[in-house]
Amino acid sequence: EQDPRIEGIASSIRVVPNFPKPGIMFQDITTLLLDPKAFKNTVDLFVERYTGKDITVVAGIEARGFIFGPPIALAIGAKFIPLRKPRKLPGEVISEEYVLEYGTDCLQMHIGAVQPGDRALVVDDLIATGGTLCAAIKLLERAGAEVVECACVIELPELKGRERLNGKPLYILVESR
Ligand code: PRP
Repeated sequence: EQDPRIEGIASSIRVVPNFPKPGIMFQDITTLLLDPKAFKNTVDLFVERYTGKDITVVAGIEARGFIFGPPIALAIGAKFIPLRKPRKLPGEVISEEYVLEYGTDCLQMHIGAVQPGDRALVVDDLIATGGTLCAAIKLLERAGAEVVECACVIELPELKGRERLNGKPLYILVESR
């Protein structure tokens, strides 16, 4: 049985064909943010799932993981850490490269932001190929954290990104094609 809040969340996400390039159906969560009820329901569903699970750190992925991660972290009493694109963080960092359709990109995390024994939740707006979440998991595990789960608003199941998460559980609210 699907939670009755999911439908309103799904319908608040705008799909923009051929953005940022031909053939891509862009999943635009800015329209979800314009709907306070849908935004609150999104955060609430994650908070309900992760309350009482001893999550000590919520790691948000640049850029849209920075929108959904912090309200979840505040509500469950966990610290928030940003996983950023290269050359944005001023302190000492560790890096993980990942493959894109053309070329590679990289996520960086501040050394010392997480400690061995931390229990992490990774948050982003969307999983497509899973490369980004895979890099995030590696960063957290290299720092000694246990990744408890990954949470995204949207999954594109046809791209099978789930299979790249090395068995880590993935929780999503909406599937899109
Ligand atoms: C999008 C999305 C995820 C990532 C998912 O970010 O917000 O972070 O792609 O793709 P994947 O599962 O194939 O790795 P984008 O690359 O557009 O970066 P941005 O949020 O900084 O614009």
